Amino acid sequence: MNFSALFIVIWFQIAYAAVNNAARLDILALDDIPSQVIDSGVLNNTVVFGYTYESGIKVDEIAWDSLTHLVLAFFQVEPSGNVRVSSSSIDSLVAAAHKNSVKVLGSIGGAGDGSVTLTKALSTSKGQANLAKSLAAIIAKFNLDGIDYDLEFPETSDELANLYGGLRAMRSSLGSASGEHKLLTMTLYSSKGLFGPKLKQTDAKPFSDIVDYGLLMSYDYFGGFSEISAPNSPFYDIPGYQGLSFTSSISAWLKNNWDPKKLVAGFPFYGRTAIVHNDGELTTQFMPNSGEAAPSGPVNKIPGAWAWNDIRDPKKGALKLAAVANNGWQRFWDSKTMTPWLFHNASSTYLGYDDPESLSIKANYIITKGLGGAMVWMVQYDYNRELESVMKNYTAACSRITWLAAAAAEASSLAEESSSEAESSSSIDEEEGGSSDDDMLDDIDPSSTSLSTILLPSWLYILVICIAFNF
Ligand SMILES: *[C@@H]1O[C@H](CO)[C@@H](O)[C@H](O)[C@H]1NC(C)=O
Ligand SMILES: *[C@@H]1O[C@H](CO)[C@@H](O)[C@H](O)[C@H]1NC(C)=O
Ligand SMILES: *[C@@H]1O[C@H](CO)[C@@H](O)[C@H](O)[C@H]1NC(C)=O
Repeated sequence: MNFSALFIVIWFQIAYAAVNNAARLDILALDDIPSQVIDSGVLNNTVVFGYTYESGIKVDEIAWDSLTHLVLAFFQVEPSGNVRVSSSSIDSLVAAAHKNSVKVLGSIGGAGDGSVTLTKALSTSKGQANLAKSLAAIIAKFNLDGIDYDLEFPETSDELANLYGGLRAMRSSLGSASGEHKLLTMTLYSSKGLFGPKLKQTDAKPFSDIVDYGLLMSYDYFGGFSEISAPNSPFYDIPGYQGLSFTSSISAWLKNNWDPKKLVAGFPFYGRTAIVHNDGELTTQFMPNSGEAAPSGPVNKIPGAWAWNDIRDPKKGALKLAAVANNGWQRFWDSKTMTPWLFHNASSTYLGYDDPESLSIKANYIITKGLGGAMVWMVQYDYNRELESVMKNYTAACSRITWLAAAAAEASSLAEESSSEAESSSSIDEEEGGSSDDDMLDDIDPSSTSLSTILLPSWLYILVICIAFNF
């Protein structure tokens, strides 16, 4: 018997199970979730927010069953605080959403001009009140379910205080608008638990208290604007750039007193490009940026970014299957950043992005952390519903865990009952009670759902046994 072969099979088994499980939402077991997350009840109420454009979006292209909330970006804010809605199809969009039990929010701000005028409107208490009043009227007119404040980004402590003032005004006018609870959300800057790149650390609790959810922009960490090529949304920090990752940002906001139940992590349905200095070696995804303009994708033509449907475009895309490269691209997986990346040698183009596997790993993480849910930027970037499938599986995993936890609690209280009955009564009852409990435990045994899927394929066992016995 060759013991090193035995050691190797055990090691492979552990590594295989770990890698495989990380991306498998459908086999997530009750045992995988910390008990305080189960006890908090958050998994019974998880949300999936999906951003889309306010206008030009087609109702029948939205995968309603993968969302709980649709967010329309962006209503136009005037410096006075008056708000304009330009979509002519908002009525039919809201009607379709409600038919599918999806709530609809309008968003204000965004990158660029939208936030410039929003900052102006928020700069006086009169503007804050006008804005709140105007938005409450729009909610009533279009039967919306809430408002999202997306100020990118407050630069001074005064601007942050004005944002807080605006949220307070909004909350109070939402309260008076109608009997039902209307939602108020805000977006959160990706890095280090800060409200903006130029601000110092500020306690997040007052904000967390006043809004229903904070939508964390856990992407745009790296791109054509960075000194090196790196993932748009690395799972862990990359060497030399502390705090710029999905997991670091989440930890930073929690540490800064944001309520985990109100923290919603952003899932990018797009990647970012860079033209790099190419020495032809390709030993790492972290290469010096050449400084040339970052290329846009073939479909959406967004400077420096490729949506999933750019990457997966059958003619001009970079992937012909979810994990198979096309058109002169090479695909790699980085097991430290837990993301795929693509390289086009002829044009020295790097593309760091997310795919079904990397998003599943992210979803798995927010479940085990007990966060409120996930947010998608943007729903129409999907291709063939491949990424929406991850969001559906995420929601399904949360319901399944909730159900398993409830069944386990039921089973253990039944077991307690029957054991105390057994103590006080005859042995005839014991047999009956015992067997029915066993049936129930068989139904919910979490290991029975996951074991078969994490074992190595059987041919690998045969191979290793052959090696072990030196056949
Ligand atoms: C989950 O929530 C629903 C309503 O939102 C409630 O009826 C149900 O009892 C909850 N289940 C558990 C296990 O908490
Ligand atoms: C990739 O590009 C580099 C730089 O342009 C070049 O030196 C190298 O030969 C190319 N490699 C392949 C495999 O084409
Ligand atoms: C979602 O779950 C289904 C059913 O288990 C599975 O077939 C599918 O591959 C999953 N999707 C992803 C993206 O993991």
